[in-house]
Amino acid sequence: MLRRPRRNRVSPTIRKMVQETTLQVSDLVLPLFLVEGTKVDEQITSLPVARRMSLDVILEEVNTCVSLGLKQFILFPSIPENRKDTIASYSYAKDNFYLTAANTIKSKFPDICLISDVAMDPYNSDGHDGLVVDGKIVNDPTLPILAKMAVAQAEAGFDIIAPSDMMDGRVEHIRTALDEHGYEDKLILAYTAKYASAFYGPFRDALDSAPKSGDKKTYQMNPANVNEAHIEAELDIAEGADMIMVKPAMHYLDVINEFKASYDIPIVAYHVSGECAQLLAASRLGWLDYDQAMPEAVLSIKRAGADIIITYFAKELAIKFSKA
Ligand code: PBG
Repeated sequence: MLRRPRRNRVSPTIRKMVQETTLQVSDLVLPLFLVEGTKVDEQITSLPVARRMSLDVILEEVNTCVSLGLKQFILFPSIPENRKDTIASYSYAKDNFYLTAANTIKSKFPDICLISDVAMDPYNSDGHDGLVVDGKIVNDPTLPILAKMAVAQAEAGFDIIAPSDMMDGRVEHIRTALDEHGYEDKLILAYTAKYASAFYGPFRDALDSAPKSGDKKTYQMNPANVNEAHIEAELDIAEGADMIMVKPAMHYLDVINEFKASYDIPIVAYHVSGECAQLLAASRLGWLDYDQAMPEAVLSIKRAGADIIITYFAKELAIKFSKA
């Protein structure tokens, strides 16, 4: 036989030489869930790899990660019910603990990259990402609220502002507001193709952020659509996005792949809570070998075309890499 593909698999060293995709710690972003208070460190039942932490605990966690070489984080707040209202006013309040925490984290660790989340849902008593008027999520009146939130986050020290709300026109609105306030160096990571997915369950448990009524289908995308994802990508890039995201990741590898082939800016994939929880659950039942399956899952997202992967496994992977 002239062609024997197995020759390239004959030894571990050769296999490594011809390996096409590699995962490294700088590809990964670790999500962190912030709660108010001190000494709070609670495991999330439906996502046992993640914890709800107060700022003091997060600072220790960031310190550990940094010593492993992991320097990229995305921060989400768990907002107490009594701070929520219909206009998400706490999202840009001066004393907002999410903003003050970001400020502390960045002043203690100036070299890390800290990503925010722009959407009304953690602060909105309706639990929706946009403003609710007469039972409807209204697009244009949401935009100034998102812009205020984005400017407050830039001011707090976040490096990347990441709108996850899926309102039309938000990237341009946020870019303009950031520039007007002198934050032209702050990046925008747009949640470009964010699907109305059932795989956000553990995240919504963690933050108690599920919509109080209805669902998110009038703004998040239909899982059946990929042409529409290109419309979103073209708009977000034209409006000034520096990076575009596909979310979830593992069930949308085709979308990641198409984005990589079509657009020249960095492609981010969000390996979401439910996708990570699936792996953890099967591993706990003894149905999957976690140490093998978890890195394979994350590698597949990179191979599909993601430049950057947000995953709850980022720290565990950093530990693995540091031992390799
Ligand atoms: C909120 C937001 C969600 C996630 C990230 N930002 C949930 C939602 O849209 O309800 C989900 C992340 C995950 O499941 O890991 N706008």
